[in-house]
Amino acid sequence: METGKEISVFAPASVANVTCGFDILGFPLNGTGDKLWMKSIPEPVIKIKTIKGFDLPLDPEKNVVGVVIKKFMQDMHIKTGFELSIRKGVKPGSGMGSSAASAAAAAFAVNELTGKPLATKDLIKYAMEGEKLASGNAHADNVAPALLGNFILIRSYDPLDIIQLDAPEELYCTVVHPHIQVKTEDSRMILKKQIPLKKAIEQWGNVAGLITGILTSDYELIGRSMKDVIIEPVRSILIPKFDEVKSSVMKAGALGCGISGSGPSIFTFSQGEKNAAKVQRKMSHIYKTLGVDFDIYVSRINKQGTQVL
Ligand code: HSE
Repeated sequence: METGKEISVFAPASVANVTCGFDILGFPLNGTGDKLWMKSIPEPVIKIKTIKGFDLPLDPEKNVVGVVIKKFMQDMHIKTGFELSIRKGVKPGSGMGSSAASAAAAAFAVNELTGKPLATKDLIKYAMEGEKLASGNAHADNVAPALLGNFILIRSYDPLDIIQLDAPEELYCTVVHPHIQVKTEDSRMILKKQIPLKKAIEQWGNVAGLITGILTSDYELIGRSMKDVIIEPVRSILIPKFDEVKSSVMKAGALGCGISGSGPSIFTFSQGEKNAAKVQRKMSHIYKTLGVDFDIYVSRINKQGTQVL
């Protein structure tokens, strides 16, 4: 294979679960994400030269990008290697798909540098290897949105069946990231393994309602379907002022509110940018008053996914 080729890509941050869709729903954000530069080299090794933004291992066996590229190289019988640098924009442990952004960027870049043997959809299973390293579980609800863009439904994991839905134009997301770290692995461990049938009925009714709302641009239906009766009651305990934030944004006109991925970030949907900005002010006020540092983002649903820069 020809070496010496270079590429720079951007993979976005994402919101997984989207309230009722634990492990099966997600969407990416605009503006915030990871940048990755990669070059093909003759030696059959993976070299992570630098990681800027946050402190993460340079050892390719311990970094999500390393395991993604390694699996791709094995499957595609690639005998050359790659060197790369990462600029992290998504903070690890934020619940905004940090490992997924890096994993998606790595899968996308290595595919491009090797002549695009796979369609973007087929890169999801490689990026999922990164999630397995990062959290002990190969979920796709961050990596699939980060790679493909738009609102994503994972209808099935085995076999993998990913459905991309066109998000309504006026659907805006506000995400607040209070600066405490919640590890996905830990926040998965505390979940109950059994669900009462009554709760399951409520949850799948809401998933169906949310998907219908997305497909028909029915904002009111989106809002009333944004209920998570299974995961949120357990995980919200780890997030400072979760209940206060939720009731305050709902009063301010948000369509719905929930935990972003495994937390601690909290996201809302609003109809229109003005409403999303109002929600942003409410969220900011609560964390400012509490004296907790935070970042806050307002974005429409990213429809591009991972892109060449
Ligand atoms: N669905 C995953 C979880 C997303 O909630 O554990 C992790 O960001």
